[in-house]
Amino acid sequence: MADLRLARRAAGLSTVFPGSHFPSELDDGVIAFDSGFAAPDLLPDLTPFAEIALNAHRGETLQYSAGQGQPLLRDWIADLMNRDGCTLTAQNLLIVNGAKNGLDLISRLLLDEGDAIVVTAPMYFTAIPIFGVYGVEFIEIGQDEAGIRVDELEATLARRAAEGLTAPKLIYNVADFHNPSGVTMPLARRRALIELAARNHIAIVEDTPYRRVRFEGEAVPSLKALDTHGVVLHVGTFSKLVAPGLRMGWIAADPAIIARLIRLKAEGGSSALIQRILYEFGRSPAFDAHVARVRDAYRQRRDRMLASLDRELPEIRVQVPDGGYYLWLTLPVHVDGDRLAADAEAAGINLIAGSRFFAGATTGNRAPPRNHVRLSYSFADPDTIEAGIVRLAEVYRAMTAR
Ligand SMILES: Cc1ncc(COP(=O)(O)O)c(C=O)c1O
Repeated sequence: MADLRLARRAAGLSTVFPGSHFPSELDDGVIAFDSGFAAPDLLPDLTPFAEIALNAHRGETLQYSAGQGQPLLRDWIADLMNRDGCTLTAQNLLIVNGAKNGLDLISRLLLDEGDAIVVTAPMYFTAIPIFGVYGVEFIEIGQDEAGIRVDELEATLARRAAEGLTAPKLIYNVADFHNPSGVTMPLARRRALIELAARNHIAIVEDTPYRRVRFEGEAVPSLKALDTHGVVLHVGTFSKLVAPGLRMGWIAADPAIIARLIRLKAEGGSSALIQRILYEFGRSPAFDAHVARVRDAYRQRRDRMLASLDRELPEIRVQVPDGGYYLWLTLPVHVDGDRLAADAEAAGINLIAGSRFFAGATTGNRAPPRNHVRLSYSFADPDTIEAGIVRLAEVYRAMTAR
């Protein structure tokens, strides 16, 4: 390779091509409990809406779109969020290419090399390199059954201030059906987090892919709905509710933030075609019917996985989520989740070792706990879920007997 001088942020990146994790490319019989892919039978038929988009609106959908996103879709999303307790207009919204694009744009807006950010331990592992490439220091804060520990965060901020360290710029959090822990923050903890962030001028990045994939109980107001200070940058996506292949999401924030983000989103705006298809789907009766179907189907899958685990592996502790795609398993302390993930993969069950969900594992900050794994119930059908847990239990017994 030519001796090119790379940017600091790129020089340390691996030159190995990332492996493919597409469940559709797996060998026959391999069971994907690792992926956040949608269940194939839940992908909606968007053909009629694509036809409308390409025929009645060809002049719009095959042209460049507005950098902020199409006004009609932004109006519709504002309405969706306002029915969920927010007070937004289309001016508060930027359409992005999925939540990960949103996280990257927010990083560009807020982060300089050397800045600190607050994350949960564990956290959504795909976000680690998104933030990491900006050269940030990760401050890991633990979670309990109510989510991120605000008391621990407050003590950490005080300790850092006493040591002369800079305050973190943002807090990254998934308040509903946290990935991977499954925890949903109750109201009081949400309020406490917002007050602490506002007092310390720290932005909260609220990532909400699973918010509408709720199986039971009442929705707790989003951080954005509770935010009277303007500190919450809310990231939404259609990946988990409609289809990840659309690559369509949004950021909701104050207009002064959105105006800057539009300038940082320099790729020419998200696809006008996909935005129109989503808008036509969203305003049709098919949308609510689809959401109900999604909730129902993932609830069934969660319950099947929980029942199978309870029967096959009663010694493993499971955090039962009220929604979302994942189960976070706590193994007995002496059982190694990395080892279990490797042995399971060899036996044709793909799952993810819990240690990968800790930013410290990537940055070398501190050793992550090893006795967790994350299972996804979103992709496999219920019978496959049951068969997969039976096979996983065999792997587990063989491993712990050694
Ligand atoms: C917490 C969290 N954020 C974001 C995403 C990805 O969203 P998108 O497909 O919109 O980039 C996921 C998907 O697994 C997720 O779990």
